[in-house]
Amino acid sequence: MTKEIALIKKLADGKFHSGQELGEILGISRAGVWKKLQKLKQRYGLQLDAVKGRGYRLQESLELLNSEAIEKALTVLGIQQLPPVEVFESIDSTNIWLMQQASLGIKSGAVCLAEQQMAGKGRHGRQWVSPFGRNLYYSMLLRFDLAPAQVAGLSLTSAIAVLRLLRQMNCHQAGLKWPNDVLWQGKKLAGLLLEVSGESSGPSQVVIGVGLNLSLGQYGDEIDQPWADLSQIPDLIPYSRNELAARLTLHLQDVANLYLQQGLAGFTAEWHEYDLYLGKQVVISSANNIHTGIHLGIDETGGIRIETESGIRTFHAGEVSLRGNTLG
Ligand code: BTN
Repeated sequence: MTKEIALIKKLADGKFHSGQELGEILGISRAGVWKKLQKLKQRYGLQLDAVKGRGYRLQESLELLNSEAIEKALTVLGIQQLPPVEVFESIDSTNIWLMQQASLGIKSGAVCLAEQQMAGKGRHGRQWVSPFGRNLYYSMLLRFDLAPAQVAGLSLTSAIAVLRLLRQMNCHQAGLKWPNDVLWQGKKLAGLLLEVSGESSGPSQVVIGVGLNLSLGQYGDEIDQPWADLSQIPDLIPYSRNELAARLTLHLQDVANLYLQQGLAGFTAEWHEYDLYLGKQVVISSANNIHTGIHLGIDETGGIRIETESGIRTFHAGEVSLRGNTLG
């Protein structure tokens, strides 16, 4: 653990700590403590109060992620077999790390979380804004005997897992935008990035990456699309970050198990229940074309069916993107 992280852990309670106390923990002078605190502001964006005679405190307390707390929550929730859970203070991307570990043989079901991502990956080559200690940056690896094409539907079912978690927290207004955006009041609350690899006829491995905004604060300014976070949603059951990670793990496991038994057919009704654009006018854009029509629902391959002027057409994720038609 670096000295900076030791300092954050001490200050995470949001209470005042004297310069002397912090200096003793870190084995540095009071002037050294002050320098380290300046670094916390710059490197981790943490806001601090300094009050003469009382010391230093974080303006907002932090609940740091902890693999033991997540494993404990998983046990309380009744998980059959604990997956390996790895927590990083800072990493390039939890997806990248798990992809690398997958090739080194890490177990199916392994989970990776980070307090901060320096190169968080979003869909369409975008960056996922990942400030320290504020949100959930989560990835799970699953291995299958199936071919990569057969597991692509997990991209939609994993979004259902996030919706189930939100419903469980008493958030009933969040919904889905095909293929796997999670929106609240039309703004992005969570995003999923699935990375699939393997032999063309199997086996395959999937890294399911989930970014769930909990409290973006001033970092929302860095996002180039309308965004939401859990702190804006009224009357939520306030699960801790570690418990959220555990519950998300269970929901992702559940949907993966059902997907193995029933494929996407087992999810279409539930998808349609959460789909924010079902029955509405939408615009589908590809590299060369734009199609407008009514969104009729998803099919059993995960494609979206649109009633256009030239008939019903099915589009697949990766080729196209969807937006609501504000005129429609
Ligand atoms: C999107 O653009 O909608 C997908 C965002 C996915 C972000 C998550 S955060 C955890 C995991 N690691 C990454 O680098 N990306 C995903």
